[in-house]
Amino acid sequence: MAEDTVSMDKIDIFDTTLRDGEQVPGCKLNSSQKIRIARALEELGVDIIEAGFPISSPGDFKAVQLIATEIRGSVICGLSRAVEKDIKVAAEAIKVAARPRIHTGIGTSDSHIKYKFNSTREKVMERAIAAVKYAKSFVEDVEFYAEDAGRTDDEFLARICEEVIKVGATVLNIPDTTGYCLPSEYGAKIRYLKEHVKGIEKATLSTHCHNDLGLATANSISGVIEGARQIECTINGLGERAGNTSLEECVMILRQHAHLQLETGINTRLLNPVSLLVSEEMGMPVQPNKAIVGSNAFAHSSGIHQDGVIKQRETYEIIDPIEVGLDKSRIVLTARSGRAALAYRLKELGHDVTKLQLDKLYQEFLKIADAKKEVVDGDLQMLMEQTQDILHG
Ligand code: KIV
Ligand code: ZN
Repeated sequence: MAEDTVSMDKIDIFDTTLRDGEQVPGCKLNSSQKIRIARALEELGVDIIEAGFPISSPGDFKAVQLIATEIRGSVICGLSRAVEKDIKVAAEAIKVAARPRIHTGIGTSDSHIKYKFNSTREKVMERAIAAVKYAKSFVEDVEFYAEDAGRTDDEFLARICEEVIKVGATVLNIPDTTGYCLPSEYGAKIRYLKEHVKGIEKATLSTHCHNDLGLATANSISGVIEGARQIECTINGLGERAGNTSLEECVMILRQHAHLQLETGINTRLLNPVSLLVSEEMGMPVQPNKAIVGSNAFAHSSGIHQDGVIKQRETYEIIDPIEVGLDKSRIVLTARSGRAALAYRLKELGHDVTKLQLDKLYQEFLKIADAKKEVVDGDLQMLMEQTQDILHG
């Protein structure tokens, strides 16, 4: 009998660690560091690598050029403002790429139009059209960003999207630049564009959500549920202010919720190694409780949870750590741990103890645990040596 085949829609992963992520204070990278990360992103299966903002400095121009020369498996994208000089320099930096893309755009919210540009909606529209036309004279693949789209009037946003599609924009980036939107609002914005922009089938809608209210990942997922087919994101959620959408979170959400019928081409077993590489190269530690890649993401410390996980991993884990590039979950021993966790760890260290011995050892263990934040293997070895008489007496 034929098996039911579920058709999955592909979501393109556009990684901007090397651009939006690198803008973070203290995260600046040199060319060799950028190329190391670009290689890792290519291996990870990222569809588009935003390699940098070539007009911003000669160093960034060189780094983007280097990435465009070496990386053949991903689209290489360079950022520019809707300014001819920016676009020309971006085009020059990426021209050797196997698949080059120019990312150009302009602020479209009334706040940006009034305060940043002292301009009008109509003039911003003209600049957007001119920028896309100019970028198209260099490359086929042109992505347009409507900066602060999250706070842009939907009707104006739809008009500007329609006009840039007419002159050849292949991707429409709808950034929630300030991280303002609720997931329902951001999703509704994407739906509105799908329903109101003539010619929308000729372009890919893209999410680009910032994390000012901790909603970047939720907004991006809401966007793809409503029809966006590209997610812009970064490793470890790095990015301006509170950060950008975390790549590892989006990829694992889509994987864990297969009923959404959305998939990415990411090799999830490389998520933790790539996270570590980015953290080390940027000198930016990952918060321990960060989903998927934090050091506590697969650590269990309370007695109740430890007992459950030791009996059956799935009781407290929805992801197999192997799937995201870790060996296994961690059982952390603290004063909140129970006998099951102590016995488990002792067994791993080669000590099989009887129930009676465990009862005695547990009382001694609690004394150490109350004095320390975490009881490590060295403490347990010492405990075993110092309690020989109790155990065998
Ligand atoms: O957040 C933003 O709007 C951006 C654009 C430059 C794409 O990073
Ligand atoms: Zn951004």
